[in-house]
Amino acid sequence: MLDKLCLGTVQLGLKYGIKNEIGRQPTHEESFSVLQAAIENGITYFDTASVYGNAEAILREFGIGHYDVNIISKLKPNIDNNGAGDTAKVVQQEIVKSLLNLGVDFLDGYLLHEAKDFYHTEIIKGLQVCKHKGLVKNIGISVYEPEDALNAVNSGKIDYIQIPYNVFDQRLDQTDFFEIAKKNHVTVFARSAFLQGLLLMRIEDVPRYLIEAIPYLEKFDDTVLKFGYSRREAAFLFNYCHNGIDKIVFGVDNESQLMDNLKIIEKANGFIECYNALCGTFRNIEDEIIMPSRWINT
Ligand SMILES: NC(=O)c1ccc[n+]([C@@H]2O[C@H](COP(=O)([O-])OP(=O)(O)OC[C@H]3O[C@@H](n4cnc5c(N)ncnc54)[C@H](OP(=O)(O)O)[C@@H]3O)[C@@H](O)[C@H]2O)c1
Repeated sequence: MLDKLCLGTVQLGLKYGIKNEIGRQPTHEESFSVLQAAIENGITYFDTASVYGNAEAILREFGIGHYDVNIISKLKPNIDNNGAGDTAKVVQQEIVKSLLNLGVDFLDGYLLHEAKDFYHTEIIKGLQVCKHKGLVKNIGISVYEPEDALNAVNSGKIDYIQIPYNVFDQRLDQTDFFEIAKKNHVTVFARSAFLQGLLLMRIEDVPRYLIEAIPYLEKFDDTVLKFGYSRREAAFLFNYCHNGIDKIVFGVDNESQLMDNLKIIEKANGFIECYNALCGTFRNIEDEIIMPSRWINT
């Protein structure tokens, strides 16, 4: 059951998230206990990126290279330098930097972190060379927009794609993205089951700039309570139970959140009615709510 889970690590490398109850980045000890618990409980996929503060270094200091796990990292944005250098070579240099930062010999996955890089021939060439050399097993992209997701899965150039997806962001269900990904053997990683924590916030704590989200959160409460689930359980299971999603990438700030989330999976049986009620209920929510990059204060 846990093979569908991938632990995100931006929360370990930066002070991150809308709610961020601890109000700071976790200490090294707190991060190590999250990683240790993840491994002891059978999580074998870890998502990171060169731009997640010191997340890659924390994984190395923890000794992630000693475990039989799959690590996915991402290329930092804007490596092109306006076409001044050998861009494909810079991609290789960046992946080698990540390998050293992480203390591993190869990566399971390496993703472009911004969509425009996908349309850059030299960057794609750089990824393909790295795959050919065995520095990475699977190459791909992390996207924000449905249009880029569709272009990527249709291209025949990628093995992995990371998408934003949650109860409030079902945009890709309104396309044939999931069918195409399956047909083209692209593994789909879905992040933001909790929408960075917004889906878990108490109504009274929602910041003013997200006030428009409140009626949706209230409707979310009304829907899930009828089926005996909490928002947290329903948000996690909504991604977990989606047939087109191969891995859920989720973030936690501490071990206790991790363990709470792992327990949710035990409630997957019987979720189908709640799932069906949530499907479609929250279609067409404004981008200003579902896209954290549009949030004013983050
Ligand atoms: N473009 C990209 O490639 C990209 C972008 C964003 C994220 N990611 C990846 O996706 C991962 C997930 O990030 P996300 O932003 O999408 O986060 P998410 O999984 O939607 O939400 C994570 C946040 O939810 C809260 N949370 C989690 N479990 C909880 C629990 N049991 N009880 C209470 N609160 C809980 C925590 O917020 P509090 O801080 O409020 O406690 C946590 O920081 C990241 O770590 C990163 O690896 C990738």
